[in-house]
Amino acid sequence: MKRLRKILLIVISLCLLNITSVKAADNVEEFVKRLYVNCLNRQPDAKGLSNWVKALKTNEKDAAKVVEGFFFSQEMNNLHLSDSEFVERCYRTLLDRRSDSKGKANWLNKLAKGVSKKEVLKGFIDSQEFTNLCKKYGVRKGTIILSSTSSSKPTTSVSKPASTSSVVIGNDSINDFVERLYNNVLNRKSDSVGLNNWTKILLEKRQTPTQVATDGFFHSKEFKNRAVNNNDFVEILYKTFLNRSSDKVGKENWLKKLNQGSIRDSIIVGFAKSQEFNNIINKSGWKEASDKYISKELTNVNSLIIIANKKHRLSSSYEPKDLREPNVKKRGSVPMRKEAATALEKMFNAAKKDGITLVAGSGYRSYSNQVSTYNYWVSIDGQANADRYSARPGYSEHQTGLAMDISDASGNYYLTEAFGNTREGKWLKNNAHKYGFILRYPKSKESITGYKYEPWHFRYVGLDYASAIYSEGEEMTLEEYFGISGGGY
Ligand code: DAL
Ligand code: ZN
Repeated sequence: MKRLRKILLIVISLCLLNITSVKAADNVEEFVKRLYVNCLNRQPDAKGLSNWVKALKTNEKDAAKVVEGFFFSQEMNNLHLSDSEFVERCYRTLLDRRSDSKGKANWLNKLAKGVSKKEVLKGFIDSQEFTNLCKKYGVRKGTIILSSTSSSKPTTSVSKPASTSSVVIGNDSINDFVERLYNNVLNRKSDSVGLNNWTKILLEKRQTPTQVATDGFFHSKEFKNRAVNNNDFVEILYKTFLNRSSDKVGKENWLKKLNQGSIRDSIIVGFAKSQEFNNIINKSGWKEASDKYISKELTNVNSLIIIANKKHRLSSSYEPKDLREPNVKKRGSVPMRKEAATALEKMFNAAKKDGITLVAGSGYRSYSNQVSTYNYWVSIDGQANADRYSARPGYSEHQTGLAMDISDASGNYYLTEAFGNTREGKWLKNNAHKYGFILRYPKSKESITGYKYEPWHFRYVGLDYASAIYSEGEEMTLEEYFGISGGGY
């Protein structure tokens, strides 16, 4: 009897053990899911989720490391959170509650004085409340280690920092560039907090010079209020980026672009990409050329340059609000966003005048439509092959309402690489940019776009960007042009 009781006890405790370990495993997953929802405002993707969960379970990373990974990810950076939103997310994510006004004011004050976001995050991570949260989810807490460059205390002058050599390198040219932004764009002297902050942002490579110039200065109310004309705008760019007055030929060239309808941001990009600016900023060892333009526009679904690729996902509920059916020769219903539909009509009419008959085959596809499309290709070709030409739901450009698959009138070459050699395919390749479209998946760029050559898939980005991208060469991709991540999932 005693023996039986003992066996029973062992069986019960083994069962209990099993239950608690299953529960703990689920908790780790819940911990990571919270980070997606609270930091990035979205549901996790399967691969990302399983990678983070694995890293925690195998002790490769502790909670602090994972949290740091989320807060300083490209995706979070692309959200361009204000200090207030950043602090609010710290509360929500790490303390599982809304901020209290006194606490929040304290953190905001620190940020305004030049304390880095990493230091603030560390403050939250080292709190008792976060320790409790980690216990609740059964994860090892850990802490954030601050390197000497990111832990800089507010300093009144950043021109002669005392710390490591990596801060000294490039500091003068970057510091000067920020000062020139203040002097020329805002027409005033810098304030030490601002100068310190922007310099740090550039030194830590959290933003590129173009981003700082646009989102930080040219897009500011302070600059807009100055209402400068095109002539002065170009002169400001010369002074800010090249530290000199304009030369006649160069200035005329930029003004011509503006008069032909180029938007000011694209002129700013032009200066930032110039060899002359890169020589200046590289002078003291600044390694990253300013050829990346990660604008807020790239992650804003309403913009014409919204990026949808294997690294940039659209929300499953996203549907453009201004879809309409283009009035062109087509196979079935092929809606597009209003502006893109009008441009498509113009393009098809122009082709007709050149004796080319184009047929639209597939425009906007909803998330659920993409579910069936993708599943269909997987069912007949296997997932590995399908992934090379069919986007998984949420990752398709067709969901943006800005893409169109186009064929010739016979339809013989629809969705085949041979379309690229037809008269219609060649006409599109050479002319689409004049109507605001680009060939989105060029030959030999699969490792960058994530997809095989698709001579039929055209993407509307607007006239300005389409011409700029086209003039970079026929194989130019959106990923390369804007310096954003692409390739596989
Ligand atoms: N064929 C493209 C990649 C798509 O499925 O969106
Ligand atoms: Zn397509």
